[in-house]
Amino acid sequence: MKFSDFGFVNTNEMLADALANKYAVPAFNFYNFETLTAIITAARKTHSPVILAVSESAMKYMGDDMLLGLMTGICASPAEQIAIHLDHGRTLDACKHAIDLGFSSVMIDASAKSFNENIKLSRDVAKYAHRHNVSVEAELGILSGIEDENTKSSNSSYTDPDAAAKFVDATGIDSLAIAIGTSHGPYKCKSADEKLRFDILNEIEKRLPDFPLVLHGASNVPQEFIDIINTYGGKLHDACGIDEKQLKRVAKTNICKINVDSDLRLAFTAAVRKVLQSDPYIFNPRDYLTKAIKYMTKICVYEITNKMKSKNKI
Ligand code: G3H
Ligand code: 13P
Ligand code: ZN
Repeated sequence: MKFSDFGFVNTNEMLADALANKYAVPAFNFYNFETLTAIITAARKTHSPVILAVSESAMKYMGDDMLLGLMTGICASPAEQIAIHLDHGRTLDACKHAIDLGFSSVMIDASAKSFNENIKLSRDVAKYAHRHNVSVEAELGILSGIEDENTKSSNSSYTDPDAAAKFVDATGIDSLAIAIGTSHGPYKCKSADEKLRFDILNEIEKRLPDFPLVLHGASNVPQEFIDIINTYGGKLHDACGIDEKQLKRVAKTNICKINVDSDLRLAFTAAVRKVLQSDPYIFNPRDYLTKAIKYMTKICVYEITNKMKSKNKI
């Protein structure tokens, strides 16, 4: 099926509007009924555009048939501006598969490959996707999954501004994910004082004015969830996210898509841990999953309103 048959839109118009009006469109990851319900409820409540991000491993977890059922169940209307997007697709086949399934947007992440290989693969994906009116994001630079400072310096490489301009020109992609100091997961930093490289972002913006940029690894890892998780038996003691003030600043730049997954994972886990430990007699999963949906919806509404500033943009 085509993405428009599901009522989805590609990300081109939403990112252009975000760029022009200085806000960011949230891309929240989903992998089951609960995460999807929370994201959609929050987007509808706030009248925000939203990108539903699905990783390759999340696709495998749900299976194509179940995923198609969930996509149908959203009952999206084009007036709502809901995009469904492959997050970190690694191969042309993975991107083709998502497009053939009805995705309206794909990310090809060949950032671990050489510059030339990254260009070639991203260009091939863009050619295929554009024949289907699907938007394409690619990545240049490497985000680290950090454990300590050494890992960070060895695994991260910031996006080179000159290379970014060449890359966009050579690939024909629609948006570019850049590395300016964020990383995936809930252990992003030693302290919330660590600064994103706005100087690099500024240089990229100079070379690519009016081009949509994307920030991955942008969870702020709310301390309230970490406290609940640790109070109710968890051990996420060194969790640390990106300082919210910096993310608010990011949303006003040419970064017009901000990716968040970990914050929802933490909200989900906090809710389930708290309910199960507080009431040892509970055995109906709906009792704790309802709470998980509530926590995730709340954090999505909060981030849409305060971090992305995408509330009431549709
Ligand atoms: O950026 C990666 C996302 O957080 C997805 O992670 O592959 O575990 O679903 P995942
Ligand atoms: P976080 O781990 O910071 O939520 O990043 C998610 C992400 O970048 C998904 O692509
Ligand atoms: Zn990512």
